[in-house]
Formats: sequence, structure tokens, C-alpha cells
Amino acid sequence: MVDVDTCLGIDIGGTGIKGAPVDTAAGRLLHERIRLLTPQPSEPGAVLDVVREVVARFSWRGPIGITFPGVVVDGVTRTAANVDKGWVDLDARKLFSEALHVPVTVVNDADAAGIAEMRFGAGAGRRGTVMVLTFGTGIGSALFHDGVLVPNTEFGHMELHGHEAEHHAAGNVREEHDLTWEQWAHRVRHYLQHLDMLFSPTLFVIGGGVSKKADKFLPHIVKHVRAEVVPAGLHNDAGIVGAAMAAQLACGTAPLPTPDAASA
Ligand code: BGC
Repeated sequence: MVDVDTCLGIDIGGTGIKGAPVDTAAGRLLHERIRLLTPQPSEPGAVLDVVREVVARFSWRGPIGITFPGVVVDGVTRTAANVDKGWVDLDARKLFSEALHVPVTVVNDADAAGIAEMRFGAGAGRRGTVMVLTFGTGIGSALFHDGVLVPNTEFGHMELHGHEAEHHAAGNVREEHDLTWEQWAHRVRHYLQHLDMLFSPTLFVIGGGVSKKADKFLPHIVKHVRAEVVPAGLHNDAGIVGAAMAAQLACGTAPLPTPDAASA
């Protein structure tokens, strides 16, 4: 039987597809997560097969939240910077829900990580303008004001030093260009300074795989950015937790994640 506070969260990334059942009232995974490789090419049908495999491994029959690394409007995936172009303008919610025979919610990956961080992680209880940024394959962004999300902000595609920011400062760029943590941190620092100038946030939350290695790069950043900069509290699980939260919100069984609710 499926608990009302339990949804399956699946995080589709450029390199891996991760999933786990989530206790959405507590913001924690109920089982160790499964991680499978994102098929290459990452065509919708091939990704669906991997998602199906994650669902089968947990014998899941309840609501599912799925993140996607691109713009998502009303379940339709609009862009696909780091995945196969077959996703552009695809009704992904319809694809997944018809194939899996359960209610499915599809949200942008950074927005999912953001709602989880604002409820259970480094942004919990924080008012004002908060920006959650994920550094992995690409840079994802989630913008909140007084706990309310402005979806699909896509600040990873902002121009920085003549490049798209994510081509200059994403997590995978550090590995691909063999940068030291300090060299990479300088790039991130310039990016945050630019965002700070444009949006004057009170807090930046740094998510994605790099958040577990915060001690290696944050010391090169924090003193040089006016806003507070902290690592994500849920690390790389934020996407899975946020996906499950989005599924629950769509089912109408969970309160909206406001700062007041978070600090209650
Ligand atoms: C996409 C964003 C996504 C980010 C992280 C970017 O290339 O355009 O939608 O959030 O990568 O996956």
C-alpha cells in the first residue's frame, strides 16, 4: 500500500538517472537510491526504458515526480541543452504517465532541487530572494522570493566572458578541462558576482554533485560575493526529493512549501 506522504522521485540528468521513494513530509529517501546511466543518445524512448527500470526495481505503483534538465511548462519539455533534441516540445508528462499507468509530474531539475532545499535544506525558513544553483552537467537555476518559485529561470545560459555560463563554469567543465578546484572556483565566483549584481539575492545555495566537496571551492568564493553562499543541505539528493514533492503537490495532498511552513 502507498502512504500519502510517499512518492517516487526520479532525477533525469545528462549522465545519470537516479530515483528513490521519498518521505515527502520529512524530506528523506526511504530507500537507498538507484542510479543508472542516462542512455546515449538520450532519446525519449530510451530514457523512458531506464525510468521504467527504476520504477520496476521499487515495484512502484503510486504517484511519480520526474525531473528533466530543460524548460518544462505544463508537463511539456521545451528545451534540451544537454539531452537529445527529441525532447523539444514533447508532452513528457503524457509519455511517462501513459507508459507507467500512474500520475506523473514533470518539473525542471533545478526547480525540483530548489523546492527541496527551500523546504528541508539550506534555504529552509529563508525569506527574500534566494537563488539555488546546481553545478553538474550544465548549470541549473531556481529563483525564489519569500519562498515562492519563479519556474524555468535558466540562468545557466546567461553570457559570461563571451561564453554561455554553463560552458564556462558547470561541474562537468571542471573535469573536462582538468581545472583545479581553485581555478574552477574563480569561474563560479565571477558567475555569482554577475548574478548578485543583477538580482541582489540574500542567499545562493550551491547544489549538484559538487555540493559534497564544498570545502574545496567555497573558501575561494564566499569572501568575494556580497550575498551569503552555502552548499545545498540535501546535496545531490535534492532533485529526487523535490521531484517527489512536486508529485505530491500535483496530487493536492501537501501544503505549499512556504518559509513559514518550513520553520514551523
Ligand atoms: C538546462 C536547464 C537545467 C540545467 C541543469 C541546463 O542546460 O537548460 O534547464 O536545469 O542545464 O541540468
